[in-house]
Amino acid sequence: MGERVTVFGAGYVGLVTGVCLSSAGHEVKVLDVDSSKLAALDQGRTPFFEPGLEDLMRESRSQGTLSFATVGDIGRFSGIVMVAVGTPATATGWADMTYVREVIDALEANAEPGTVVVMKSTVPPGTGRNLAARLAPHGILYASNPEFLREGTAVTDWFETNRVVLGGSPESIERVKPLYEHIDAPLLECEVTSAEMIKYASNAFLATKISFINEIAVLCDLVGATVDQVAEGVGMDERIGPAFLKAGIGYGGSCFPKDTRALDFLANFHGYDFHLLRAVIDVNARQRLLPVRALREQFGSLEDRRVAILGLTFKPDTDDTREAPASEIASLLRAEGAEVVGYNPIPVVMPELSRTADSLEDALANAHAVILATEWDEIVGADWGSLVRSMADRAVVFDGRNALDPQAIRGAGAKYIGVGRPEDDRHGAR
Ligand code: UGA
Repeated sequence: MGERVTVFGAGYVGLVTGVCLSSAGHEVKVLDVDSSKLAALDQGRTPFFEPGLEDLMRESRSQGTLSFATVGDIGRFSGIVMVAVGTPATATGWADMTYVREVIDALEANAEPGTVVVMKSTVPPGTGRNLAARLAPHGILYASNPEFLREGTAVTDWFETNRVVLGGSPESIERVKPLYEHIDAPLLECEVTSAEMIKYASNAFLATKISFINEIAVLCDLVGATVDQVAEGVGMDERIGPAFLKAGIGYGGSCFPKDTRALDFLANFHGYDFHLLRAVIDVNARQRLLPVRALREQFGSLEDRRVAILGLTFKPDTDDTREAPASEIASLLRAEGAEVVGYNPIPVVMPELSRTADSLEDALANAHAVILATEWDEIVGADWGSLVRSMADRAVVFDGRNALDPQAIRGAGAKYIGVGRPEDDRHGAR
């Protein structure tokens, strides 16, 4: 028999955690305050798109290990309680701890002695130490267990994670360990504040890799090197690795932008100027301006130009548009007077657009320019020759993810602009 687990929050991390733990045989109840979300879950529908999650959820429901309830329905808490509520960024960049605080208040008042509270939400380093001290007099244990899964591959990431991090006292860690018995990955035991810092440092380092290769891409454009080849060669060094070296219009999503800003705020708060991290954030902001600047250079005024933006989510295989480069680019283009038509393989709402197209063909017909913002397979694999031929004369294709074939696009008569992929003839490089 597995552990009895309550998960606070049917958001991204909470639902994936709950579903994956229940599929491994633990008896899981997922709580949320949003009754419409719970009603959809009860009918087997997840509130967001994540490959494989709905199927796994149905399996767990039919084996009887997964249930849902509203927060108010639970009188007393016991066993393992995982906290996976949101910690969105406030205007200062600091994490908003309102939801975490509400959960901890409820647990302090209603958890049986011996309950272990496991923090999955990303909370600023130093938070857990205070929470553990607050809960200890009630006999409640505390552990930090940061989550490293990615949207779009969350289910695989859960089962095939490369590490499990548990921060806390030896007693609380021992209580949480059985949850991960089915995971074949090294388990790092550490202090609560170190576990919290591991989460921020991991995301900040990955963001640094992205901004670093984006800086190299700018240099590649200046000297006539191709960043794809440079990244491949650099990534062959095992000490560096090939992951997260894809140059483009920068990172988005609900994690990297928020967590880098929160870490920067933390450094400032402690009187420390984290130069490197600030540069990472600045470079990312600059990358998003590249397509707008490039189109302005090509057309002069963007007034009444039709621009298609393809890939509205912050990455492929998700319906999440939080901090998606497409939304910022769309509002900048519209501020310049352009008509902006968006297309995404999974329908999403993006108010910054002039309109949403039903198909790639609809988005590109008669467009003066197209910006690839996110490299969905459907978009990258399309017949770009005929798409380009349906565009206006002398159209511009800005490949914000270096995912398209420059020759095919130039061959069809459009101007191709990538990020760190200079034109062959400009430098006579090949
Ligand atoms: C990220 C981390 O990868 C996860 O480990 C972490 O658990 C998660 O944040 C979180 O803190 O919850 P996620 O935001 O889902 O996951 O997506 P990523 O695959 O990391 O991509 C983030 C952004 O970086 C995307 O906009 C992507 O287009 C961009 N990116 C990624 C690049 O621009 N270049 C790359 O080489 C890789």
